[in-house]
Amino acid sequence: MGLEDRETMRILRAAVCPGPESEVLIRDFYTRWFATDLSARDLFPPDMEKQRYVFAEALTWLCNELIAQRAEEPVAFLAQLGRDHRKYGVTQAHYETLKTALLGALRTHLAEHWDRRMSEAVNDVVTLVVGVMSGAADAETSPPFCDGTVLEHLRATRDVSVIRLKMEHALSYLPGQYVPVQIPQWPRRWRYLSPSIPADANGYVEFHVRSVPGGMVSTAILGEARPGDRWRVSNPHGALHIDRDAGDVLMVAGSTGLAPLRALIMDLARFSENPRVHLFFGAKYPADLYDLPTLWEVASTNPWLSVTPVSELTFDPPWASDYPDPTPPRGLHVRQTGLLPEVVTRYGSWSDRQILLCGGPAMVTATKQALIAKGAPAERIQHDPLAS
Ligand SMILES: Cc1cc2nc3c(=O)[nH]c(=O)nc-3n(C[C@H](O)[C@H](O)[C@H](O)COP(=O)(O)OP(=O)(O)OC[C@H]3O[C@@H](n4cnc5c(N)ncnc54)[C@H](O)[C@@H]3O)c2cc1C
Ligand code: HEM
Repeated sequence: MGLEDRETMRILRAAVCPGPESEVLIRDFYTRWFATDLSARDLFPPDMEKQRYVFAEALTWLCNELIAQRAEEPVAFLAQLGRDHRKYGVTQAHYETLKTALLGALRTHLAEHWDRRMSEAVNDVVTLVVGVMSGAADAETSPPFCDGTVLEHLRATRDVSVIRLKMEHALSYLPGQYVPVQIPQWPRRWRYLSPSIPADANGYVEFHVRSVPGGMVSTAILGEARPGDRWRVSNPHGALHIDRDAGDVLMVAGSTGLAPLRALIMDLARFSENPRVHLFFGAKYPADLYDLPTLWEVASTNPWLSVTPVSELTFDPPWASDYPDPTPPRGLHVRQTGLLPEVVTRYGSWSDRQILLCGGPAMVTATKQALIAKGAPAERIQHDPLAS
């Protein structure tokens, strides 16, 4: 039976599904693994709480798929995970030690259910995970990451930086995608960032980074990134895209959520005829709308693009005078005041549009709900995963 034994698979799913019991099991797994393989411990950051959660979540998702008797998606997911794990420096030997530790922990924690069927199902799941991940990693010939040098660090506002780099090789990503990035100030703390320009044949790339209060990597970028720093960028993810034959487009960007939408707009600018694109670019203060001059420049020569700036507040804080003034030139859309979900839906449901949302999870969720409530079809709304 093994992978097809749905009843046993449900017991396994209950054991790994994130919660207090699974926490004990997953903690035990990592303890066993690191006790036998110190080199695996070195790959992880000191705090493992989030890692335990994402590992349990991945196993739970896998059990769900197997219970539903779907094999294609799990294999594709595990293969991608294996290829992506190369950037951490994972070796085939790590997979062997992980397998022993995971089997041991599962056997101990499922002792009351342990019989021939359970043993077979657990062995098959662990063998599938390890086999597909390590096989895909082994078969992949592209490099797991590319290094590059910071050329410029521009402070666009008090909490947003624009970082320009030249990579050793041209990066290969589609406009709208995001990439894992590692900075020298925080080795082994990969974070997703979205390039704000389409892939460049000479290896130039630009990121817009907003510092998150209490955030490790983003605050280090704003405070410490310097020309000459060596950054590491891994392979792209994400599927935000525009279908040029699928009608007009609504884009909603909150702060640095602008980056991937800007890359898509720049990519469209290669064509003279495009669907109409209406971009709402929102932030708290007018002075936070850091990239408006570039957007207006693009809009002034590309009639298919219109840009509506939106700020939550009408006035600027005292620090605004230190940064360029983003007041619109005459003839362009006047800045609107309010929260993005309210302002965007004031104009209607946008139900005939391809809709792309990007920004903080709260803004994306609220805007999506507001649009759906107004009649926009959920399947026309695209956004990236809401957490890293
Ligand atoms: C698909 C995607 C694309 C992205 N693109 C961009 C982009 O283009 N530009 C950009 O600026 N950002 C982008 N991000 C966000 C980025 O990846 C980081 O998540 C963000 O910069 C925060 O990272 P950090 O290391 O600064 O914060 P972290 O250290 O990861 O902390 C994040 C938050 O959690 C809180 N926190 C941390 N540890 C704890 C704890 N133990 N207990 C309680 N709270 C805690 C922090 O206070 C903070 O508020 C993207 C994210 C995703 C998912
Ligand atoms: C050889 C074994 C493995 C090693 C050495 C390894 C190592 C790592 C490391 C270092 C991270 C990043 C942690 C961080 O930055 O906070 C990570 C993330 C992750 N791992 Fe693994 N891992 C292994 C196997 C697996 C397996 C078998 C799964 C589950 C099926 C898994 C699921 C994940 C997930 C979901 C993430 C978060 C997403 C990501 O960053 O890629 N890993 N792993």
